[in-house]
Amino acid sequence: MRVAMIGTGYVGLVSGACFADFGHTVTCIDKAVDKIDALNAGDIPIYEPGLQQLVAKNVAEERLFFTTDPTEAVKNADAVFIAVGTPTRRGDGHADLTYVYAAAEEIAGLIEGFTVIVNKSTVPVGTGDEVEAIIARTNPDAKFAVVSNPEFLREGAAINDFKRPDRVVVGTDSDAAVKVMRELYRPLYLNETPIIVTKRRTSELIKYAANAFLAVKITFINEIADLCEKVGANVQEVSRGIGLDNRIGAKFLHAGPGYGGSCFPKDTLALARIGADANVDLDIVNSVIEVNNRRKGRMADKVIEFLGGDVSGKTIALLGLAFKPNTDDMREAPSIEIVSRLQKAGARIRAYDPASMKEAEQVMSDVLFCDGPYHAIENSDAVVIVTEWDQFRALDLDRMKSSLKQPNVIDLRNIYEPDYMIERGFNYTSIGRAY
Ligand code: UDX
Repeated sequence: MRVAMIGTGYVGLVSGACFADFGHTVTCIDKAVDKIDALNAGDIPIYEPGLQQLVAKNVAEERLFFTTDPTEAVKNADAVFIAVGTPTRRGDGHADLTYVYAAAEEIAGLIEGFTVIVNKSTVPVGTGDEVEAIIARTNPDAKFAVVSNPEFLREGAAINDFKRPDRVVVGTDSDAAVKVMRELYRPLYLNETPIIVTKRRTSELIKYAANAFLAVKITFINEIADLCEKVGANVQEVSRGIGLDNRIGAKFLHAGPGYGGSCFPKDTLALARIGADANVDLDIVNSVIEVNNRRKGRMADKVIEFLGGDVSGKTIALLGLAFKPNTDDMREAPSIEIVSRLQKAGARIRAYDPASMKEAEQVMSDVLFCDGPYHAIENSDAVVIVTEWDQFRALDLDRMKSSLKQPNVIDLRNIYEPDYMIERGFNYTSIGRAY
């Protein structure tokens, strides 16, 4: 199949490279000349394990192309994917659809023969209808069908998520479009991946409902963690105890400093707006948004409390800044709020993250960015583990203890065992594990 992928952001690039690896001929299109130049030179603008190699392989095998000019690729395409950004619109929680609609208009004038237009961007319910209307209006002769095919890619695990998904969701009324979509995802039949064919609006809502549900799960266990601390229970064992119930499931039950990233915060907000616009009270979604926002600041309060209520003049080392490991993404990262609150309380911040320090420089100031974990810890009054990078799971504890001014460890990701840390002479606290 011939695929045109509009947008070389995270989703477009990963999906484009993976479709090429499935054997299709894919052209990724972006208006940003520097981005396309970089991609053509073999540079990947995002941090995603395995992506560079996957892109290089498929470029070398002449199945993956990058260009700023959509004309040829869209004209020849069996499927044109819209994978442009849908940021939160300033001032309210609505998703900004400017880029989606601009892409639709551009595609409309270029398609030839029956073409499937696939929305991969996360878009509010009804956007597919609008895209269809734009194309029909711009090019009344166009033969096309608009499909919703949401992505469920986790940063840091995106290639695996694309190639071994739990399910593929295809939303359309057109049988011809379903045929094209099945052909595109044919390699997944080997793994017997369920393909859910449904109405377009249902498919659009599945994406928001999935992300919001995962956000609910995380926020729920975070609340239970707070309770564990007060009543003398252990949240990890509670998670295991409830997660083994198949109806609940074990995943996304790790208590921590609150969810961040490019999806959960944006998509929960957008879903809340969709609810408000439809006059449906989405009370659970609204409280999850509020509880999670509050939690990030409360993590700083936890640090301050643990250090005796006053951190002014103290030096605090942060290990991990990105919203999660294996990414350089700082969007909505809990570390931002934690740093800013600790600084307001008078603390000096040293920090180390294996990938996100360049990004972090853009969103936090007066932080001493260090060369490695031990450099960050040096002469600090406390170390706060904010992101659970693998390299922080096996730190040399003796070295850490002798580098710290005070052996205070606040582990917001529960990567160490409380008993063990205390045995090794640390003042240690974590999330939801009273002892
Ligand atoms: C998410 C969805 O998983 C993906 O399907 C969607 O398409 C995009 O959004 P991503 O944002 O990359 O992916 O990261 P994810 O691994 O889901 O983690 C999101 C946030 O939740 C992170 O801040 C992470 O630290 C937090 N989290 C996750 C927890 O605090 N506890 C958990 O148990 C799981």
